[in-house]
Formats: sequence, C-alpha cells, structure tokens
Amino acid sequence: MASGWGTAQRNLSISGTPLTIGGQKFARGVGTHANSRMRLALYGKAKRFLTKVGVDDSAGGKGSVEFIITADTKVLWRSGLITGGTPAIPVTLKLDGVRELILEVTDHGDGSGYDHADWADAAIEMIDSAAKPVALPTYDTVVIKTDHFSVQFRVGDDRRLYQQSIGLENADDTLTRTEEAYPPSGNGYIWEPALQVIHTDGNTSTDLLFNRVTQTNEAGHSELTKIQLHDPAYPLEVVLCFRTYPAFDLIEQWTEIRHRESNPIQLIRMASSSLVFNPTNLNLMHFFGDWAAEMNPVTEPLTPGIKILDSKIGVRAHQYSNPSFILSLDGRPAENAGRILAGSLAWSGSFQCAFDYNGGQVRALTGLNPFASIYHLAKGEIFTTPAMIWVWSGHGLGEMSRKFHSWARDFGFRDGHQPREVLLNNWEATGFDFDFNRIVALFDPAKEIGAELFLLDDGWFGNKFPRIDDRAGLGDWAPNRLRFPNGLAPLTAAAEKRGLHFGIWMEPEMVNPKSELFERHPNWVIAQPKRELDLQRNQLVLDLTRPDVQKFEQKVIWGILNVPGITYAKWDCNRFLTQPGSSWLSADRQSHLWIEYVRALYKLMAQTMEAFPKTELMLCSGGGGRVDYAALKYFHEFWPSDTTDPMIRATMQWDYSYFFPLMTVASHVTHSGNRSMHFTCSVAMSARFGMDLDLAKLSAADKVVCARTIATYKHIRSVTQLGDLYRLENPHANPRCCMSFVSKDQARSILFVFQMRDAELKPVRPEGLDPKKSYVIRELNPLTGRHLLSQEGKSFRGDELMQNGIIPNCLKAAEACVIELGQ
Ligand code: GLA
Repeated sequence: MASGWGTAQRNLSISGTPLTIGGQKFARGVGTHANSRMRLALYGKAKRFLTKVGVDDSAGGKGSVEFIITADTKVLWRSGLITGGTPAIPVTLKLDGVRELILEVTDHGDGSGYDHADWADAAIEMIDSAAKPVALPTYDTVVIKTDHFSVQFRVGDDRRLYQQSIGLENADDTLTRTEEAYPPSGNGYIWEPALQVIHTDGNTSTDLLFNRVTQTNEAGHSELTKIQLHDPAYPLEVVLCFRTYPAFDLIEQWTEIRHRESNPIQLIRMASSSLVFNPTNLNLMHFFGDWAAEMNPVTEPLTPGIKILDSKIGVRAHQYSNPSFILSLDGRPAENAGRILAGSLAWSGSFQCAFDYNGGQVRALTGLNPFASIYHLAKGEIFTTPAMIWVWSGHGLGEMSRKFHSWARDFGFRDGHQPREVLLNNWEATGFDFDFNRIVALFDPAKEIGAELFLLDDGWFGNKFPRIDDRAGLGDWAPNRLRFPNGLAPLTAAAEKRGLHFGIWMEPEMVNPKSELFERHPNWVIAQPKRELDLQRNQLVLDLTRPDVQKFEQKVIWGILNVPGITYAKWDCNRFLTQPGSSWLSADRQSHLWIEYVRALYKLMAQTMEAFPKTELMLCSGGGGRVDYAALKYFHEFWPSDTTDPMIRATMQWDYSYFFPLMTVASHVTHSGNRSMHFTCSVAMSARFGMDLDLAKLSAADKVVCARTIATYKHIRSVTQLGDLYRLENPHANPRCCMSFVSKDQARSILFVFQMRDAELKPVRPEGLDPKKSYVIRELNPLTGRHLLSQEGKSFRGDELMQNGIIPNCLKAAEACVIELGQ
C-alpha cells in the first residue's frame, strides 16, 4: 500500500501506535496516510470486503480524509469527508466477479497534514478454495524496453495513460495532461492531439482510459506490447502497439482504432506515435530535397511552436521531405557520442511529423498526414496506422545507423544477407533509343567486363503509341513489335546465353493520355472532374482504389515478370498526386483516397513478392521519391536520385546511410559530372554497384578501370554490404568524405576516401577494428600512374591504425582511394 507520508503499517497506525478510531482500539488492520493507494487482484473469486474506516487518534483529533473503494474501474463506495475524532464507519461491500480492487485514501482536497487513515479490521472473504488475493503494483506501469532503451508509461489516478520517462531519464511522478501518452482532443487536452474523432452523434470529444496491457514474445527476436485504452462514454477502443527488437534497440510503434458506435465515426487525426521529450538540448535533424537533389540534412534546435515535416503528394512520401529524422537529446548530433533517437515512418504516402513544443515539453506526433484525409471508420473495422520505427543509440549517430542497418538486413528489406550482383543498365547509354540489336550489342562487352545482370530500362513497349519518348505509351505493356518483333523472350535468352541475368523497367501505376489504355478507360485515372487534367511528365496516376485497376496492374506485372529469364525489375513511379479525385470512391469518401491508394499499393507489392519470390526488385520513384521502410519491405534496393554525379552522390549516400544500409542504395557509374572513371567507380562500388554506360564507347583506359572496379567490387561486397558502416569524415564539414566497412568478425575492413575539395594529405582514422588484430594495408583498384600508399603492404595492429590513421594518396577534388585492411 502506497502512503503519502511514512510507510503503511500492519496492525498499527501510521505513527506506530495501536490502531484507534474515535477512542475505539483495533487489533488488526492497516494504518496509512493520505494520499494512499493499494491495488489487489481478486480473480473474480472474492465474496465480500469488510472494514471500519476513520482518522486515527494519533492525529490528535486533526486530519480530514476521504476513503474510496473501486472495483474494476467502478467506484463502489466513497466515504465523503471524514475528520479526526469521528467514530469508525463500518463498510461491507459485495465483490462478486470483481477482478481488481483499489483501496484509496485522499486528502479530500485540503492538503494531507495529519491525515492518518486506518482500514481497521479490513478483510476480504474469498469463495472456498480460491487462491489468496495478490497485491498489484500501486499503479499500472507499462515499460517498453530494449537492451539500452525504455519508454515507461503509468496509469494515473484518473486512469489516463501517461508517459513517465523516455531513454535513460528518471521517471517523472507528476503526471499532467501534457504527458498523456496518446492525447485525444476535445476533453481538456489543449495541445496538438494524437487522436481527433467525431463520434456518430456529432460529439467532437474523446477521452481515453487505461484498460489493460498484454505482452507477447514473438519467435524470440521481438516482443509485442499492446496497451488497450477505451473511451468511458463511447464504445471506442484504441490500442497502442509497440514491437521491440531488444538487441537492435529498435521499436516499431503503431496504433489500432476500433469502435462499436451505430454508424461510422470520423477519424480526423490518428497519430502512429506520440512520444514526449524534454526540450533541453533537443536537436532535430531532418532531410529536405527535390527531384535530383534528394536528402539534404538540416539540424536545428527545436523552439516553441510546432515544427512540421510533411508531404501532401499522396502516392509517395518523399521528394521534398523524407519521413525519416533524427532527434538528438544532447545538442547537435555527433557520430560517436550523445543520445540519439532516430525515427522513420513506414509510409509511402502523405505524412506528417509534427514537433509540438509547448514551452514545457516537445511532443513528436508522427503518422499519416491529417491534411484532407478524414477517414470514416465503420463499426467493427480496425484502423491500423502506419508503423513508426524508432532506433536508440547512447553513443551517437554511428551506433544508431549500425543498429538500424543490422535490423534492416533481417527485417527491413529483402535478402539482406545476400551480396548484390554487378548491374549494367542501358538508361544513361541509350535513353529511349534502342531496339533488339542495340540492346544485344551491349551484352558482350558487359559480360566481358564482368557484369552479372543487365537491366533494360524504359522504352521497350507500346505499339499504337510507341514508347519512344516520355510522351506516349505508358499503360500499354506489350513489347514494341518494331523494336522486339518476337517479344522479350529472345532478348532474355540472348542474355542468358552470355551468362547474364536479365532485368526490366516497369511503371505499372501510370498511364499516358496518349495510350490505348487511356482510350479504353479514361475514367481509370486520378483526376478532378471539371478541372483540366494536370499532367506531370506527360502522365497520370491510375486509380488503384478501383478493383478493376488493381486487377489490371496485377496482370501487367505478372505478364512482365513471367517472361522466362527475367530475374530483376525496376518498379518506377514518376509522378505524384496533384488532383486527388477518385471515380471509384463515393462523394463523401473522396478523402479516403490518400490512404486507400497506399494500402492497395502495398497489397500489390506484397502479392508481387509472394508470386515472384526470386525476382529482385528495385524501388524507384522519379529518383528517390519512395524511400521508406514500408515499401522497402517488398524490395531489395532503391534508386536514391536521378543525380548520378559522384561528387553529389558521395554526400547523398552518406546522408541516406543514417537510416538505410548502403547495399539498398543503388549507385551507378555514369558520365554525369564528367569525373574521372576511377573516382566515379570508387563512389559507386561503396554502395549497391551498377553501371549505366555504353561500354563499347569507353576509352581503353576507362574500360580497364571499370573491369578492375568490377573485380574489386566482387572482392569487397561481402564486407561493404554485410559488414558494419563507420562514417569517419563528414563531407558537409570536411574537404573529403571518408567511411569504412568492417566485417562482422572484424577480420577485414574497406576504407573509402572521396576527395570533395583539394586539401593537404592527412591521415584518416579508421574505426571498429579489433585493437589486437593485425591488418595489412593494401590499396584496391589503384589509379594507374599514382604513387603507392606509404603504408602499402605493411601490417599494423588495429589500435595503432585507429590512433595514428592511414595516409591515403588522393588530395585533389574528385579523386578517390579505396583501401583494404586485411589479414
Ligand atoms: C525515372 C527513373 C530513371 C529512368 C526513367 C525512365 O526518371 O528515375 O532512372 O528509369 O524514369 O523513364
């Protein structure tokens, strides 16, 4: 029994004297002090509760209290005001079926001085053979815990759920509405709410009280906690869900909403997560961008007011702002020190991450964008929000990324333990201008140089409206008869004959108005009646909420991926929503489009993955428009940007690597930026390597560099793709970009140095090595004519290397050096 002063006493008053109320002595009972509380589990097996209550005479006639007895959230009895000297009041209550009993003493609102309170002769009568009642923790606490991180919630006296602590902060006992775990609007909560509902009767208020919590172990690697809340006045249930992966310090959090009101309720806001942070030293790092300029970091301290990161473009989350961010709890985030919580919303549509700093706390509200997205939830239907992924690090950004990457290899994308093949793409080489012979001509030099997979890009389909540029043909997925008279099969066979795997480009969600598909089904597109069609890249989005469109797109994908010999596909999406009108959804359900489109998309992606489990998939959206962990689950990699200039890519890869392992980041060698072949190849092979070149047109010298790069990539990919990443020198703050990968057994490390500006030579210090192991230094794919590393061929202990560093041999802008530290 918790006591507001001192410790509750068995068979004595709070001050250690015999229990005495109004002059009457009692041999048995509990002496306590307001405010006091006890919870007991009765399992529905109790008959009666009997006691005599009053203020103990040890208070000298002073004191004023109220006794309250609650059974299963219902108040069974309250004493009203009792003052010192009043004779004991006998209480007998029936407890049939009661599971939880709460005994409370309050100070009756006038302060707790002298509030010595006795539960004299207190007894619970159980039915015969029932187990004894068991005392529960005074308040329900729910702890969401990983190896080095926890979020603690507590049920308040008002039965609302409050966040008590996050990270390693001390638990906070003053529970105010600003710390409510999932605050609903309209009944006292005045800040940005997590939940906003219009009930069937028009009532705009919701209250959420704690019901119960369940925790289930999932196959040993994760634990699922579900905290059930309910509205006492409406049959509305909200379940806060947390899946913890303890070893990765990673939590997936989402919310489930369900009701039994007579008609649909309207969900206006429904956050996935709503954690509260102490604003002292809190910094937010987020990433903005544009087409061909994705993922630019900004770091700023949060200030009072609401900071919103969002997108309102529907069919993809990213382009201008990525749904991933970093909260640093100790000022500006650093690579190797400070407490970090990274967040990444698993949603490929309009999103909102709002940081509401109300002066006292910062609440991070993340989830679907409430913008124009009212959702009418039918009785009994469960609304599941997207998952928010949180990753904790007590030692800066580096540790955070390594945990994120290790988790992602197991759970975040496909075949994460399988190093990726060398890919040759024709897009930058041919654009739309090719036919059977032109493509086959690319195969021999590709094979010769060591490529393993060929990817045929946009331009292979369309007959009445041939896809010879981006103005026509999208939607008509039959191979173009002039370019491929016998379809695609001879092409994949020609690739197979040369030992090359074959991949293909598709954009199943889109249509050009100049297409047979549009001629047949003009009403299949997302558009606003009475408005002129708003084209982007001359195309429109098909309305995937329509069952006929779902069937069509599935057929398109099946048709393409079933061509014998196709082992890889690039799934593109080159525009977003600007006129959110659906011909399928009814007039009063138009606001569902944002959500239903993305749900239907995931269904299609999941079906594709199931039907073609061996086909590798690249996620692409006009560059890096769809980079999030919801879509990535069905894919192997993503195309991060249509910018392939390695000077820009090196930095962009650095920034994507905060959240995504570089084996998911496609990086192709092109002529963009006119950099040296050695530099271009070096940057590309640090990520998921590919080439987008006409190899026949390369100079002999460049061809040699490419061939050597491919051999090197094959030699290092098990380390760069399956090992741990250490970001060493940040290109935003230094003249060079340095990072290294260390194999999980620490036997090998690959160090990349990309020179961003001319600078003096200085050592780069590797990290993550075994201090006691020896490593031999060897430059990989050295640049012809450049002097060797001064440490070439020599052996050093890990601790020496980490302290003194390695001196690379590049010092001019756009030069690179790749070094192996091996046995
Ligand atoms: C998008 C992609 C490119 C290429 C073209 C083809 O822009 O990002 O890589 O596939 O489409 O039209």
